[in-house]
Amino acid sequence: MAADDAAAEVSPGATFGPPGDEYEIGKQLGNGAASRVFACRRLNTNEQLAVKAVDLRRLCLLGDLQDQMTRLDSEVGILHELRHERIVNLQGFYKTDNWYFLVMELVGGGELFDLIVRNKSLSESEARHIFLQLLEGVGYMHARGVLHRDLKPENILVAGSRPAEPPESGHNYDVKIADFGLSKAIGGGASLARTRVGTPQYWAPEVLDVQKRGGSYDQAADFWGLGAVLFVMLCGRYPFDGQKQALDDQIRTASYSMTGSRWRNISEAAKSLVRGLLRVNPVDRLSLDDCLSHPWVTGEPMPLPKRLPLKPAAAWLCLLNVGPPRESLKTRVLLQKSL
Ligand SMILES: Nc1ncnc2c1ncn2[C@@H]1O[C@H](COP(=O)(O)OP(=O)(O)O)[C@@H](O)[C@H]1O
Ligand SMILES: [Mg+2]
Repeated sequence: MAADDAAAEVSPGATFGPPGDEYEIGKQLGNGAASRVFACRRLNTNEQLAVKAVDLRRLCLLGDLQDQMTRLDSEVGILHELRHERIVNLQGFYKTDNWYFLVMELVGGGELFDLIVRNKSLSESEARHIFLQLLEGVGYMHARGVLHRDLKPENILVAGSRPAEPPESGHNYDVKIADFGLSKAIGGGASLARTRVGTPQYWAPEVLDVQKRGGSYDQAADFWGLGAVLFVMLCGRYPFDGQKQALDDQIRTASYSMTGSRWRNISEAAKSLVRGLLRVNPVDRLSLDDCLSHPWVTGEPMPLPKRLPLKPAAAWLCLLNVGPPRESLKTRVLLQKSL
């Protein structure tokens, strides 16, 4: 059965694909504004795969169809260029009058989002294991001039898990980055991205401002996204929720809080990494190299802040809790907080 006639035909049990190389649609795995993702089976080989079926008639309702089609073609083109263990692999695509099918590897463990919701939050070692894989994937795509621009737990898929080796506890989750629908190829590392895209909760300040004030943004926007994902993994809450303040204002001023009970047992190293990633000015934000050498990632002790060295005698007085150096200690803690 050709699947290009009506929406009802793209559903479990239907087939699509060119004659001689057809795929059977299985259960639904997820959905977006104009697309649904299903498990599918390549009939020739029996391979279990996933397909993102984009309804072009719905896409039409979302705005300029030509613009949307260019985006889809760009998603396919970019995914074609990317082959990495941490990135959902595109196997092929097939177009009909009403549908666009993107056939991908099947990632069976669901979204990181659901994993976090199920567990309320992840332990630091679980989050670290995932964060390192995200750095690998993001490092790979950036080196090829691709910005993802929509990094969020819904677009990070769990490929598998196993119990962590002692002394770590919990699980090691293997993840893959999905959804290149908003990604962008930029030439030679230059900052040419100028459209406001992504999901509000995870937008970097420069992404918010790009249309109002002009300007552009680059790889740093993905590191903001990684900071927001790390925040959510550690505490199970969005850093910016638009509740006490408008979402745009919260993001523009990086007004998030790490004072709740969920943050009490989280290490200073983890908090410092989140702060370094959620810096408003992209120039000040941590880069890939900064992340890879950060104590939370390497497991090395946090260095003492450089700006206020304590003289040995002053440090002793601090420990004894007497005299003016107490003030210094307090300042030091404040400085450490604002690192
Ligand atoms: N390769 C895949 N394997 C398993 N599930 C997937 C795969 N790709 C997408 N999904 C599921 O479908 C959802 C929507 O896919 P996504 O590519 O993010 O589309 P959208 O652009 O509509 O957000 C994902 O959040 C995920 O739950
Ligand atoms: Mg998505």
